[in-house]
Amino acid sequence: MIGQAQRIAELKNLEGKKRDESKNIYAFSSGKGGTGKTFVSLNLAYSLSLKGRKVLVIDLDPNLANMDIMLDIKPTSTINEFYKGRSLLKEVITKRSDYLHFIFGDSGRADFQRLKDDTIAYLFMQLSKISNNYDYIFLDTGAGASEDVVKILANADFSVFVTTPEPTSIMDAYVMIKLLCVNSVDSEKLVIVNKCADESEGRQAFQNLNSASYHFLREKLNCLGTIRYDNAVSRSIINQKLFIENNDDSLVTTNFFKLIKNLDEYVHVANINHYGSDLLS
Ligand SMILES: Nc1ncnc2c1ncn2[C@@H]1O[C@H](COP(=O)(O)OP(=O)(O)OP(=O)(O)O)[C@@H](O)[C@H]1O
Ligand SMILES: [Mg+2]
Repeated sequence: MIGQAQRIAELKNLEGKKRDESKNIYAFSSGKGGTGKTFVSLNLAYSLSLKGRKVLVIDLDPNLANMDIMLDIKPTSTINEFYKGRSLLKEVITKRSDYLHFIFGDSGRADFQRLKDDTIAYLFMQLSKISNNYDYIFLDTGAGASEDVVKILANADFSVFVTTPEPTSIMDAYVMIKLLCVNSVDSEKLVIVNKCADESEGRQAFQNLNSASYHFLREKLNCLGTIRYDNAVSRSIINQKLFIENNDDSLVTTNFFKLIKNLDEYVHVANINHYGSDLLS
């Protein structure tokens, strides 16, 4: 059991300190629910792990956590043990393979919690202690533009907006981006367009979002790629199977492998401080 006093002492210790490790924390959000944040972050993480990248995925949806269900894993501990101060973050990790680790949420809760500011600060402090163990850390947030989602995005190194080509979804992603601007969050902003009929539809959707964002907010976005709509995605979720693991020949799988190539290139470019590039080729 970790006492409140120790938490406060650790938080005080963190004051004035900046993480000195490289940037590797990506927060996935969308505004509109159901765009595919969880599906995309899971399968992106799995694709990266196949290429030898070490990835940690954390289910940060405090109300409707469902990653464990999508993977058909019954975790022995969840992030709730951490929130309650009973465990350190590293103690609630579930290892699916050497390269793919998870921290699951508590699925099936009905008490609609919000993450408090000091819980989010403590989470990122603990993350900074383990982030060097990973190439990528993905934070999957819940639907909506709540204050805690904005705080999570504000603390992450990169914001990844998962949108679909629907105008309502584009508008919600725009609102999320505007919220970050209003709150002076200057994390780098990446976009994935999911559920596309084809690549050109996804490109057009990105252009629309990027134009609005640049025109009204002077904020340039980076497109990581597009993912096709495929009925097999829903079947994989019904069967509680990781899509990429079971659909080698799907265009969606090809999309994910192109996406990780773009991501690796983006990280390389970001590291040498060139911002605002569209890596969609
Ligand atoms: N590329 C795709 N093709 C077809 N269906 C998809 C695709 N991506 C996601 N879906 C479907 O969209 C639904 C929502 O996906 P998911 O749960 O990942 O969204 P989410 O953004 O995490 O939702 P929430 O906002 O509730 O957390 C799933 O039922 C899945 O079947
Ligand atoms: Mg989700």
